[in-house]
Amino acid sequence: MSKELKVLNVGLLGIGTVGGGTFNVLARNADEIMRRTGRQIRITHVADRNLDLARSVVGDKANVGNDAFILVENPDIDVVVELIGGYTFAKELVLKAIANKKHVVTANKALIALHGNEIFAAAKANNVIVAYEAAVAGGIPIIKALREGLGANKIEWVAGIINGTTNFILTEMREKGLAFADVLGEAQRLGYAEADPTFDVEGIDAAHKLTIMSAIAFGMPMKFDQAYTEGITKLEQKDIKYAEELGYRVKLLGISKYTENGVELRVHPTLIPEKRLVANVNGAMNAVVVKGDAVGPTLYYGAGAGAEPTASAVVADLMDVARLIDATSEQRVPYLAFQPEYVKDLPILPIEEVQSAYYLRTRANDKPGVLANVTKILGDRNISIDAMMQKEPNENETEADIVILTHVTVEKNMNAAIAAIELLDAIVGRVTRIRMEELSR
Ligand code: HSE
Repeated sequence: MSKELKVLNVGLLGIGTVGGGTFNVLARNADEIMRRTGRQIRITHVADRNLDLARSVVGDKANVGNDAFILVENPDIDVVVELIGGYTFAKELVLKAIANKKHVVTANKALIALHGNEIFAAAKANNVIVAYEAAVAGGIPIIKALREGLGANKIEWVAGIINGTTNFILTEMREKGLAFADVLGEAQRLGYAEADPTFDVEGIDAAHKLTIMSAIAFGMPMKFDQAYTEGITKLEQKDIKYAEELGYRVKLLGISKYTENGVELRVHPTLIPEKRLVANVNGAMNAVVVKGDAVGPTLYYGAGAGAEPTASAVVADLMDVARLIDATSEQRVPYLAFQPEYVKDLPILPIEEVQSAYYLRTRANDKPGVLANVTKILGDRNISIDAMMQKEPNENETEADIVILTHVTVEKNMNAAIAAIELLDAIVGRVTRIRMEELSR
């Protein structure tokens, strides 16, 4: 083995769930980690507002304080691990750590998605590493896969179940026939949800993670403000059931595709054929499918949250820092996978220009000619029907649900068709529309 290198001193900001997990994994696997890196990684300082909690986790093995701003100034610390979340203090602390020439490891997806461009510029100017594997899909090494393992490929698209809370809710809705509102409380009780569950159920958390993946897949800056985001709060139980009858599962997907006209960057409920592996990712688990031109579709599956799964990613980042701390910036993997001078400001395709197939559900008076009118509206706009299903009205009901699956069309064309269908006399209420993805090529 190579001669023993000096200890890597780590300062930990936040000793909550992931911080505690990081401390435990580093301690438990210290020997294995040392065998891999040739260097000891030691948490020497911890800052947390809850001093009692911090002391109960680290005992006398690290210095404990409650002032994060003192920690990031400490000259003995090589790497700052930011696990406090949010963007206000976290951003200030990370930028201060960088200005003090400290490397940074963070699990903060919101911080990287919103302020990554500024943070990476500061890191480059100070020649330090900013590593963020834990920010996307918890323990799944998707950043490593995209930035390094798939580096030979032109990435064509990325599609992922990247929010465990919503996947848990959708799984419960499908398996137990429950309504959205009845399952949300359970997800919160189980501790999957973000502090503000709106971030989960409205797709914002997934959009943070998708923004990061698309930046490193295509070599472009973070463009969170241009992501199209639609959550699962309006999803009805019956659509999950009808989709299943037609051979599909409904998942909240983050999808980013490279097209000649721009990059698609969108989070929304999506029908996926049930035969796809990713359609069978259930409960709070995460999965990401990446299509590379050389390798074809690849799938990454695992726990997207939790103390030790997330710590697994944080510690792997610390190990990269341990190996690369003395390397030049040219020897390190670029922050956004591509050399900074080759990062391109690619346009994001507005959702109206996205091409998709659709699931449509409408409620109609059960009388002659209604279906003909609906299909004429679609046909007139060159929208081809793939499958159709009419549900018998229940006893004493005069209205029936009509479900239509279409082939691919451009979203603005579908918007026009839906507006016209909703104007038909026999149609009751709004048309429900869910986008569909084959995820096969
Ligand atoms: N609230 C997130 C989720 C946690 O449900 O996936 C991990 O980012």
